[in-house]
Amino acid sequence: MATNKMLFLAGILALSFSSVALATIVPVLDFCVADPNGQALVHGMACKDPKLVTPEDFFFSGAHKPGNTSNPMGSKVTTFNVAQIPGLNTFGLSMARVDYCPGGLNAPHTHPRASEMFTVLEGTIEVGFITPNPELRHFKKVLKKGDVFVFPFGLVHYQKNVGNGKAAALVAFNSENAGMIPLGGSVLHAQPNMSEDIVARVLKI
Ligand SMILES: *[C@@H]1O[C@H](CO)[C@@H](O)[C@H](O)[C@H]1NC(C)=O
Ligand SMILES: *[C@@H]1O[C@H](CO)[C@@H](O)[C@H](O)[C@H]1NC(C)=O
Repeated sequence: MATNKMLFLAGILALSFSSVALATIVPVLDFCVADPNGQALVHGMACKDPKLVTPEDFFFSGAHKPGNTSNPMGSKVTTFNVAQIPGLNTFGLSMARVDYCPGGLNAPHTHPRASEMFTVLEGTIEVGFITPNPELRHFKKVLKKGDVFVFPFGLVHYQKNVGNGKAAALVAFNSENAGMIPLGGSVLHAQPNMSEDIVARVLKI
C-alpha cells in the first residue's frame, strides 16, 4: 500500500517537473546582444559587453519593402533574425517577410529550430504542411489578407501565391535563428555533392 502511495507521489512529482520543463524559459539577463567576434558562446553567440550595447542592436529597418521576386521560384524571404538584429540573441524569437510574384512558390522546406506563425499581408496564398512518416498527412488551406496559419515545429511546409496579383506575408518564429532546410535543395546542392546514384534515386522517388 505504502509503495503504491509512493509511486503515486513519484508520478505527480514527475508530471510537475515535466510541466516545468515545458514552461517558458525565463531569461537570467535583460539581454545578451550577439557579438559575432566573441569567444564565449551562449545560444551560439557570445554576449556583447552591455556597456557597448546601443539602440541599433535592437533595431531593423525595411520590413515594409517587398523583396525581389525575380528568381526561378518567384518568391523572396527577407529575415529579421539574430543575424540582422543582434539584440534578439537568446530571446527565442524572430520574424521574416515573404514576397511572392503571381504563381510564386516558397518551395517545401523545414525549420529545424522553430514553429512558424504565418500572417497574410496581401494576396491569396495556398499553404500546407505534411506530418511525418508513416501518415504523411497533408494539411492545406487557401489564405487571404489578414488570415493567420501555423506550421508545426520542424514539419515540411510550403506556400504558393494562387491569386492574380502579388502576395506578401509576415512570419514569426519561436527561435532567434530558426534555420531553413530546403527539401530537394539539400540533396541537390550538398557541398561536397552527393553521389549521382543517391541524387538520382531521391529524384526518382
Ligand atoms: C531583382 O533581381 C533581378 C535578378 O537578380 C535583377 O536583375 C534586378 O535588377 C533586381 N531588381 C531590383 C529592383 O533590385
Ligand atoms: C559531384 O562532383 C564531382 C566532382 O566535382 C563530379 O564529377 C560529379 O559529377 C558530381 N556529381 C553530381 C551528382 O553532381
